[in-house]
Amino acid sequence: MSKSASLKEIETMPVFEAFKKIKRLRFSEPSLGVLAFFVGFFVVIAFLIGGLFYLDYRDLTRRFGLSGQSQRFNWLQVKGSAQEQRFEFLSEKGGGCDLFDGNWVWDKNYPLYQSKDCNFLDEGFQCSENGRPDQFYTKWRWQPKDCNLPRFNATLMLEKLRNKRLVFAGDSIGRNQWESLLCMLSSAVPNKESIYEVHGSPITKHKGFLVFKFKEFNCTVEYYRAPFLVLQSRPPPGAPRNIRTTLKLDNMDWHSLKWKDADVLVLNTGHWWNYEKTMRGGCYFQEGMQVKMEMKVEDAYGRAIETVLKWIHDAVNSSETQVFFRTYAPVHFRGGDWRNGGTCHLETLPDLGSSSSLVPSDNWSQFKIASSVLSAYSNNSEMTNFKVLNISSMTAQRKDGHSSLYYLGPKVGLAPLHRQDCSHWCLPGVPDAWNELLYALFLKHEAAGAGAGTGTWNS
Ligand SMILES: *[C@@H]1O[C@H](CO)[C@@H](O)[C@H](O)[C@H]1NC(C)=O
Ligand SMILES: *[C@@H]1O[C@H](CO)[C@@H](O)[C@H](O)[C@H]1NC(C)=O
Ligand SMILES: *[C@@H]1O[C@H](CO)[C@@H](O)[C@H](O)[C@H]1NC(C)=O
Ligand SMILES: *[C@@H]1O[C@H](CO)[C@@H](O)[C@H](O)[C@H]1NC(C)=O
Ligand SMILES: *[C@@H]1O[C@H](CO)[C@@H](O)[C@H](O)[C@H]1NC(C)=O
Ligand SMILES: *[C@@H]1O[C@H](CO)[C@@H](O)[C@H](O)[C@H]1NC(C)=O
Repeated sequence: MSKSASLKEIETMPVFEAFKKIKRLRFSEPSLGVLAFFVGFFVVIAFLIGGLFYLDYRDLTRRFGLSGQSQRFNWLQVKGSAQEQRFEFLSEKGGGCDLFDGNWVWDKNYPLYQSKDCNFLDEGFQCSENGRPDQFYTKWRWQPKDCNLPRFNATLMLEKLRNKRLVFAGDSIGRNQWESLLCMLSSAVPNKESIYEVHGSPITKHKGFLVFKFKEFNCTVEYYRAPFLVLQSRPPPGAPRNIRTTLKLDNMDWHSLKWKDADVLVLNTGHWWNYEKTMRGGCYFQEGMQVKMEMKVEDAYGRAIETVLKWIHDAVNSSETQVFFRTYAPVHFRGGDWRNGGTCHLETLPDLGSSSSLVPSDNWSQFKIASSVLSAYSNNSEMTNFKVLNISSMTAQRKDGHSSLYYLGPKVGLAPLHRQDCSHWCLPGVPDAWNELLYALFLKHEAAGAGAGTGTWNS
């Protein structure tokens, strides 16, 4: 076997390491025959190991979804996969498919781009450049259970976005997803100079917004920083001194005026709705003219999402704007709290077990709150002029995909272990998969004809 770079990757993978050792053991069985005394003993052991190996390997093939796509794994006989029986999501029959119910499968054709080829990446997301040794996290594709996703085609997406605006508004995880999409789309544009920020601003962790234009297509892909989506501003006159700002739970962020006419709008909020990022810094919640000193963060978050959904209903014309609400992207800190330390460093494999045990949804208060508000509104046909990008469960399985120690830039080096980042994502990586789902839903909507009404849109 030649030691190609990709094979080396495989070799550093502990599970494959064990796998190979067992394989070697099995192949050395005949030579054991000489040691007559031990023959019986070893045969039994070999049999046991073989049996375990067989079970293990069946488990692996099932869990890894190795459907013969990687030639390296061809020796693993996989039963005729269900792949052929699945509908294409974009076909008529694919309409009822739940894209968010599925599995991560290893696909050697991934990633969709290389970080070194993308000029639009924050240093913080370039894990490879920042010293991450493995590339496994770039190789997983999301496979819905009941249908197949269209393969991402950047040219096609850009053509469909011609003369349009695609806007992301939300927190830094939203910026993570936005940069992922910039890289995915720019991979199809040979002349990188033709993609530029309209005000000449560099990509940095900066406040405000960034508007990237794809000149040939006259389309823009924009990001607005609005971690709460609702308005954060000065407290009302006469408020106690310890109140430095308030979140107006019944008002949208000022920038929402710029979002509302987008052709495609992707919203998210979640990671900032905690004590540390609000009350500890003197930021309290306000409804009407009243500051609610006693209001809990969870309740405020629920109220804010209601405000966002009401705004989508009242201010956004659903014949012109396709709205997505992306759900909470799980973090991987102990007990879901970053103060308890991360659990993502040195993770090189997704959690591929049964998804129910992997979703500690009781610990994601954000997830639960958002989910219940969104579900309540989704039930109301009057209000369903938005689509939920329900990525929480699939993302929970990807503790291997976080920035971990690799976010400080190539010059600074690794972050200390206790400062590992288990909330943002390496790129290429997990947010690419969210964007592939966005792509599929966007194409489906385009095919149905914009303005075909909320009925088909929400099927
Ligand atoms: C991608 O889309 C473009 C534009 O529709 C098309 O010409 C091209 O063949 C597609 N590429 C693939 C690989 O399907
Ligand atoms: C470019 O797109 C914008 C919308 O984003 C549109 O208003 C404008 O007319 C387009 N320009 C051309 C030349 O088509
Ligand atoms: C929404 O957009 C459609 C299509 O452009 C237009 O016909 C309709 O009047 C708009 N609705 C409102 C309430 O502005
Ligand atoms: C969930 O939280 C409980 C208590 O808050 C804790 O005991 C448990 O370990 C947490 N579970 C996970 C998976 O983090
Ligand atoms: C998202 O998916 C999870 C798990 O599949 C489900 O429990 C939840 O209700 C969904 N949320 C929404 C808003 O659709
Ligand atoms: C939404 O509808 C489903 C059944 O259609 C129901 O089980 C669920 O309780 C409803 N949710 C809310 C929040 O009303």
